[in-house]
Amino acid sequence: FAQTVTIKARPSDAAPHISKHIYGHFAEHLGRCIYDGFYVGEDSKLPNTVGVRNDIIEALRALKIPNLRWPGGCFADTYHWKDGIGPKENRPTIVNQWWGGSTEDNSFGTHDFLNLCELLDTEPYLSANVGSGTVRETEEWLQYTTHDGISPMADLRRSNGREQPWRVRYWGVGNEAWGCGGNMTAEYYANIYRQFATYMRDWNLQDDTPVFRIASGASGDDYQWTETLMKNIKPDLVEALALHHYAVTDWSDKGPSVSFDETQYFGTMREALKMEEFVVKHAAIMDRYDPEKKIALFVDEWGGWYDTEPAYEAGVLYQQNTMRDAMIAGTTLNTFNNHADRVKMANLAQTVNVLQAVILTDAEKMLLTPTYHVMKMYAVHQDATLIPLSFDSPKYTLGDEQLPAISASASRDSSGKVHFSLVNIDARKSHTIKIEAAALQLSKLSGEILSSAAIQDYNDFDTPGKISTETFRGASLRQGTISLEIPPFSVIVLKGE
Ligand code: AHR
Repeated sequence: FAQTVTIKARPSDAAPHISKHIYGHFAEHLGRCIYDGFYVGEDSKLPNTVGVRNDIIEALRALKIPNLRWPGGCFADTYHWKDGIGPKENRPTIVNQWWGGSTEDNSFGTHDFLNLCELLDTEPYLSANVGSGTVRETEEWLQYTTHDGISPMADLRRSNGREQPWRVRYWGVGNEAWGCGGNMTAEYYANIYRQFATYMRDWNLQDDTPVFRIASGASGDDYQWTETLMKNIKPDLVEALALHHYAVTDWSDKGPSVSFDETQYFGTMREALKMEEFVVKHAAIMDRYDPEKKIALFVDEWGGWYDTEPAYEAGVLYQQNTMRDAMIAGTTLNTFNNHADRVKMANLAQTVNVLQAVILTDAEKMLLTPTYHVMKMYAVHQDATLIPLSFDSPKYTLGDEQLPAISASASRDSSGKVHFSLVNIDARKSHTIKIEAAALQLSKLSGEILSSAAIQDYNDFDTPGKISTETFRGASLRQGTISLEIPPFSVIVLKGE
């Protein structure tokens, strides 16, 4: 039977602003994310703008993606940016050592990526090569992309056809330094980080946005990593630590992306919900060293990770995206919103054809996944002010295990509109939600819902519109209290005015 949960919504002057960058994305040279995903080349028969598919550009613009991280991931620590500039026919190849061993022709490089970001109206986030690169290489990449004066790298950029620098604020200093980024200890990485960061300076003096250096942070619950970095890196050298966490139950047997059972679903959600604990505990360590919260916590890789779909010869880490993924997205984004005082950026892995993608392509076909729809529904929280919520969730029970069934966050945007994002992960039961919202002085309510008949449902290339948002008319507002019933495995976003 449905249980009732009462959510108290209390606006607070101390509540943080929800950075739009929490809704960021990640595009690695991996499988068919870049090549045969975003990038089909200028000679393709598919409609494109300088080689990037127009349908993808349009879909991502509709999502208002605030930033895009590139070129990796693990690939970043093998990438030498100078191999990806200049006439395409002269560029050397690169073997993608981490992901499938394919040979790439470097035809998608720095200009291609930064021009794409301009087309998308999104901020670039470049991941610099620390694992197999040099301080000089990183320093020159900064100079090449952002220097507005006369210098060897700015001149090289001009000779390659780009007069004005791009605006590149976000710089990752290596990726997963504890693993594919060099298998370093935290102490060793902290020293290397300090060396790189020292030479990562502002090259564009006309621009008032300082360079933002992002240290490779912990994996999951590696609190020692965070402690060591916070202790050993001087605060004036670092602007963010980047945590990674994927919702995986067993790395040696990740399970299918579509034909999973309820036990597997429950396991995925258990792992996904750990994000809350990880954010809280890493933030608590950061609070001890940085009580003023000057250093941000980023989560620049997150999402579900399953076995590659066997039905498609579709590239490394290609997986389908079901209502389970919508549950991961809805609950994780609520966690980030609710901890927006410290979490200032997050990047879903990955945008197109890889892991928990928002877009899948097959030759000329393209579809939007359930995760895309959640991201679009939640875009209303970008740059809004958090409204703190408090409640005790009813439980989703399977065997003798329990998880909180309901996840929620809320915000007020600059025009005064209030949005509640509500998720019920329970695979069997709907729940009744009452939101005590008198303090918000609302007089009008509307909503959208994402739901489907089965948790395994997905959009495929024959029925790309099977799962999509619909108007939700099931919420009422009486004397400041909002009441609704939220169906099993569904996401609802309510707008109050
Ligand atoms: O997103 C896929 C991979 O996951 C990235 O390359 C790496 O950073 C992480 O382990």
